Amino acid sequence: MKKVLTGDGSYTLFSEEYKEVYHSISGAEEEAVKKYVEPTGVFELAKKGFINVLDVCFGIGYNSAAVIDAALKSNPDCKIIIVGLEKDEKLLDVMKELSPSFESYKMIRDIRDCVYKNPNVDIKIVFGDARDTIKNIEEGFDICLFDPFSPKTQPEMWTETFFKDIASKMKVGGVLSTYSCATHVRINLVRAGFDPKDGPSIGRRAPSTIAIKI
Ligand SMILES: C[S@@+](CC[C@H](N)C(=O)[O-])C[C@H]1O[C@@H](n2cnc3c(N)ncnc32)[C@H](O)[C@@H]1O
Repeated sequence: MKKVLTGDGSYTLFSEEYKEVYHSISGAEEEAVKKYVEPTGVFELAKKGFINVLDVCFGIGYNSAAVIDAALKSNPDCKIIIVGLEKDEKLLDVMKELSPSFESYKMIRDIRDCVYKNPNVDIKIVFGDARDTIKNIEEGFDICLFDPFSPKTQPEMWTETFFKDIASKMKVGGVLSTYSCATHVRINLVRAGFDPKDGPSIGRRAPSTIAIKI
């Protein structure tokens, strides 16, 4: 798997299968923080003491690590549950060779048999096609980090059907965050029971999408 240096000094990967990078080339860590942590309100949620996160397309775990860092910074006693859906088991080895600046990345590197646990943090990765594995996971997520490859490259991931399955696992008022602002993606989110709005733009780029489960 080819590593690619991004604008903030952190590395991402290039997928030979999809011919796309895993994160924004302007900054992989920055994208995780700006598009997935800040707009989902992790900091505020953590103050309540418990966050339940669904990470769809877990990849190399940057989005989850960014959430854990922010939650523990906000409230060191916060309990964080993360369920990651991912199809590529080889990434477990790749993660062990990466050193992003997220403090909690040592937890990600320490995932054994798809699980990591400490008194605050519980991470479980479910391998397989997320459109199938979603059906057998628990309910009650506060946040969904939705991060497949682009709608153009992977249209099958951005459908009304898949968003409906995700919505069925989230709490009312839960927040889904994704980097795409494509109109048809937002239409599918609405049909699936979300209320999508512009999320942050980084630099001069188009906004991301923040969608509240109604
Ligand atoms: C853009 S990368 C995700 C980056 C990740 N969120 C991170 O922070 O490191 C997309 C990921 O989706 C995974 N993927 C693609 N299709 C999938 C599917 N049908 N089910 C589960 N994972 C899938 C790929 O293996 C890849 O790891």
